[in-house]
Amino acid sequence: MRTPLILVALFALISLRVIAASPEPVERADAPPRERVSFNDGWLFSRTDAEWVLGQLDYAYSKPWLLASAADLFGPTSPRITQPRGNFGGHFTHTQPGFDDSDWRKLNLPHDWGIEGAFKQEYPGDTGKLPWWGVAWYRKHFDVPASDAGRRLVLEIDGAMAHSLVWLNGHFVGGWPYGYTSYQLDLTPFVKPGEKNVIAIRLDNPTESSRWYPGGGLYRNVWLTKTGPIHVAHWGTVVTTPKITADAAHVSVQVITDNDSAAKASLSIATEVFALDASDRKSSAPAATGAPVSVGIEPGRQASATQSLVVTQPKLWSVSAPHRYVAVTTISQDGRVVDRIETPFGIRSIAFDADRGLLLNGEVVPIRGVCNHHDLGALGTAINVRALERQLEILRAMGCNAIRTSHNPPAPELLDLCDKLGFLVMDEAFDCWGKGKNRQDYHVQFPDWHEADLRALVRRDRNHPSVILWSIGNEVIEQWWADGQEGWKLAARLAGIMREEDRTRPVSAGFNGEISGYNGFQHVLDAIGYNYRINEYARFRQINPTVPLFGAETASALSSRGVYFFPISDNKIDPASRADFQVSSYDLYAAPWATPPDVEWRAADAVPGYAGEFVWTGFDYLGEPTPYNADLTNLLNFSDPAEKERQKKQLEELGRIPTPSRSSYFGIVDLAGFPKDRYYFYQARWRPDLPMAHLLPHWTWPERVGHVTPVHAYTSGDEAELWVNGQSLGRKKLAKGEYRLRWDDVKYAPGEVRLVAYKAGAKWAETVQRTAGPAARLKLMPDRREITADGKDLSFVTVRIEDADGVLAPRAANRVAFAVSGPAEIIATDNGDPTSFESFQSKERAAFNGLVLVVIRTKTGEFGPITLRATSPGLAPTEVSLTAK
Ligand code: GAL
Repeated sequence: MRTPLILVALFALISLRVIAASPEPVERADAPPRERVSFNDGWLFSRTDAEWVLGQLDYAYSKPWLLASAADLFGPTSPRITQPRGNFGGHFTHTQPGFDDSDWRKLNLPHDWGIEGAFKQEYPGDTGKLPWWGVAWYRKHFDVPASDAGRRLVLEIDGAMAHSLVWLNGHFVGGWPYGYTSYQLDLTPFVKPGEKNVIAIRLDNPTESSRWYPGGGLYRNVWLTKTGPIHVAHWGTVVTTPKITADAAHVSVQVITDNDSAAKASLSIATEVFALDASDRKSSAPAATGAPVSVGIEPGRQASATQSLVVTQPKLWSVSAPHRYVAVTTISQDGRVVDRIETPFGIRSIAFDADRGLLLNGEVVPIRGVCNHHDLGALGTAINVRALERQLEILRAMGCNAIRTSHNPPAPELLDLCDKLGFLVMDEAFDCWGKGKNRQDYHVQFPDWHEADLRALVRRDRNHPSVILWSIGNEVIEQWWADGQEGWKLAARLAGIMREEDRTRPVSAGFNGEISGYNGFQHVLDAIGYNYRINEYARFRQINPTVPLFGAETASALSSRGVYFFPISDNKIDPASRADFQVSSYDLYAAPWATPPDVEWRAADAVPGYAGEFVWTGFDYLGEPTPYNADLTNLLNFSDPAEKERQKKQLEELGRIPTPSRSSYFGIVDLAGFPKDRYYFYQARWRPDLPMAHLLPHWTWPERVGHVTPVHAYTSGDEAELWVNGQSLGRKKLAKGEYRLRWDDVKYAPGEVRLVAYKAGAKWAETVQRTAGPAARLKLMPDRREITADGKDLSFVTVRIEDADGVLAPRAANRVAFAVSGPAEIIATDNGDPTSFESFQSKERAAFNGLVLVVIRTKTGEFGPITLRATSPGLAPTEVSLTAK
């Protein structure tokens, strides 16, 4: 029975904040109260700066103008920030509405100019050998209907890399330096209803500003939102669930409303809660209905009202059953609806407990997480929902239940997907504070912007049930200050800002300094995340018995998919594990500061209360090709260019020449999305109930006949027997502290290796590796055959090179060419090889160890059959059919 108990219009509180004045808007009777439309299509793009800019748009000059864009994101005691007088940059050609941009390139957003390449050897390897830096302009001509007069028009940018400056019809509006923060700008004062309007955006992406590939451009979604002058404020709803029992969940909905009209407004605010299904459809009947709350707002002011509702028999959000609800809030004035907003949320409780780890709805849930950077491999940083969803699907099949958004705020769509699919999220703000890791790092903006960036992150993301942890930073230099004074004080301040915005989640950070758990940080944060400090876990637990502990970054194991070097060694940095700029895939190798997975687990399993881990990384990413970094200085802290130069010289003298690697070796999954052996190692641990077994290496070694070729196995069982060409090499059991089974003396003979795994004495799983004959054919395996004709949906097609019997040719490097017919296009190819400099947009590509990836995208509104054809000299050509629906 649904009992809409409801109620308690507790208070309506008028804040003292004054809202920026806009020209006398009036309410239109016929307009829908709120429209939010994609503003992604029909942009013009140029990499040429406006004439005579000569540094005049640099951050040093733009800063006072930009800060006003963050005026709402400084605490209540900060003075209100307003823009200086005048029109910043309005005299530069590219900002002006009449400027002739007819020869600029036409494109749709999201767009990352860096991924277009070309790769160059002389570009830094730590940022992907791709040209992502520099200045670029985007312009868009758009109609504003005359009927929009009196409405409020707001531009929402989910992320612009970086230092965006925005002009509308030649007037400077605002912008944002940090490329990962979502922000909005009020266009109302400069908009021309009934006319063509021109928006111009300049980006300036500084060199030496990132330790990984940041991408460049308007790489996330851009929206145009229209409301009346009385409207819910930006990120102006806060839904929490302060009390949850099996019978009832108390839902608190705080609504912050702006009155931009010229008159005092008496409003009625009402909220209904509906259940949401997996396709975002609302339940037909509300799960709870709140009694309307009355609120009065003076003109130019803001007011907050809170409603309490009760959802009976709530369906809780969890990792295995991510039930969601949506709060639909309606604001009415004199019986007329002036705004309506929907806030999806989940009902769940979280707590970090030093003795038990993470409690989700009161139950222990081990964090089986990965860190990921924001690039989508061959698609670059341009956000694509399907590409993100595919990453999560691949990770979920491994048993992963958590993502750390290293080391920056993610695209909002990632959190929507995590809500839907049941992933936990550690939502991270920064990779540095006041001390940078690169010359032009975020430390340049930190003093002025950290507060706004932190508040923006929390306000945007606080209604997502997936977000269980805030992170104020990763491996900040301030952790190393031994007396701890400045470091922990700053951490306390930053955590305090986050707690002002959200009291329901713990604030944490990732530390690689062993002292961080002893020098004060542990007292000002709610949980401590260690990066690679396995030797600290036990001591930390002993000294800080009440502080929750987890692995914010673990492993950093290294491997190239399908690559094996011999002999193997348990020395994680054995040079024999590396050749041809690849790393052997025995999962015994790691960076000097890091650990193979089993070494991490041995330490973690010995620490009571350890809440779980975020492995570095789930997917390979562009940049940071450790151990082949050409310039290791990116690992150190150099704000001082002279010191950096000195270190560079030293590295050159040591013979560290630039390497051709463009992407990382840390991923459990390679850049193309193909699982490495390690994937099955984590699966064995994270999905103990899934009968599975995996063997490595592959078994096609014509040059190794008679040579020792160790065989390692991962299984969710506890015991296994290995058979080589029908002969048993014995049955082995996993002892305590062991996670893999190894047969290190196997001599290679062509044929097959077979593993039969057991659990509690009973047969559990079986797997086999067979010697492949010569490459004979191509097999195309789309991840989805029916895709939506919306110009965004993708099919990721795996191309497998097989022998005549269908066995993967595990070392095949055949070149494969692709052609598509029908309503779709090939937008990218890849093979997961970290050393490949082939353009990601190429329509042909060499296989890397038998596999190629081709990515197909639909066209908007074009339906029907699609055929993808693959050809390769000497192999039988093949086709696969897809449908655009
Ligand atoms: C960590 C760092 C990550 C990444 C990783 C590679 O210290 O936080 O961003 O660089 O090392 O092992």
